[in-house]
Amino acid sequence: MMFVKTLAIGAALVAHAAAVDIRIDVGLTPLTFTPNTTTAKVGDYLEYHFHTATQHSVVAGDFASPCTPAKTGGFYSGFFSTTGTGENPNVFRVLVNTTDPIFFYCSYLRHCENGMVGVVNPGSQTLAAYKSSAASASGSVSPPGVFGGVVTTANSSSSTPSSSTSSAPATSSTAPPSAGGGGNGAGSLAVSFVSLLGAVGAAILMI
Ligand SMILES: *[C@@H]1O[C@H](CO)[C@@H](O)[C@H](O)[C@H]1NC(C)=O
Ligand SMILES: *[C@@H]1O[C@H](CO)[C@@H](O)[C@H](O)[C@H]1NC(C)=O
Ligand SMILES: *[C@@H]1O[C@H](CO)[C@@H](O)[C@H](O)[C@H]1NC(C)=O
Repeated sequence: MMFVKTLAIGAALVAHAAAVDIRIDVGLTPLTFTPNTTTAKVGDYLEYHFHTATQHSVVAGDFASPCTPAKTGGFYSGFFSTTGTGENPNVFRVLVNTTDPIFFYCSYLRHCENGMVGVVNPGSQTLAAYKSSAASASGSVSPPGVFGGVVTTANSSSSTPSSSTSSAPATSSTAPPSAGGGGNGAGSLAVSFVSLLGAVGAAILMI
């Protein structure tokens, strides 16, 4: 019984593990989202950072209709580019409110058809399959206006609890910041693990 209770407490705490900002670089190398696959929990933010003078956008779509905006919900960043090297000082932040898969694509020209796609929380529907059907999409659709997220300035130093994985110098002009996306999963896991340890510790104290 106590064991079950411990698990329940642990699970509850893990569910409330600190939200993290998940950095996703857009166009860091041609026609890519980096990382193109990530996991997120409800309450996390996806933070899209845009690179290069080539325009890019991010649009949430449905697996069944690649390169087309999601029928319900979703988000659209509008088009971003930079005037030189480095990343745009603005980012697009999206609050994650589901653990269902979120597929997304760049709606500029034929970027989506050419494979500029990504996914959050993939399940049995894979990014490879989405990308494959995107290749034969008849065109890319941009929603009429920005929605589902916020265009804001990237913070240059840690002022949010989890910003170590998301912040980058807004004026970065030479070397692109190291992609933080890859590290996010680890950070998130670490937080969950610490929460779990705390929960187990608390439960033991209660025994
Ligand atoms: C999740 O967010 C999207 C975009 O903001 C919104 O349209 C949708 O209604 C939200 N879903 C839930 C379950 O809150
Ligand atoms: C996702 O990104 C990785 C790393 O760049 C790459 O190897 C892989 O082919 C990409 N997946 C898809 C479906 O594009
Ligand atoms: C920047 O920091 C403020 C708090 O100081 C926070 O509200 C905001 O969400 C942060 N923005 C980004 C892009 O991390």
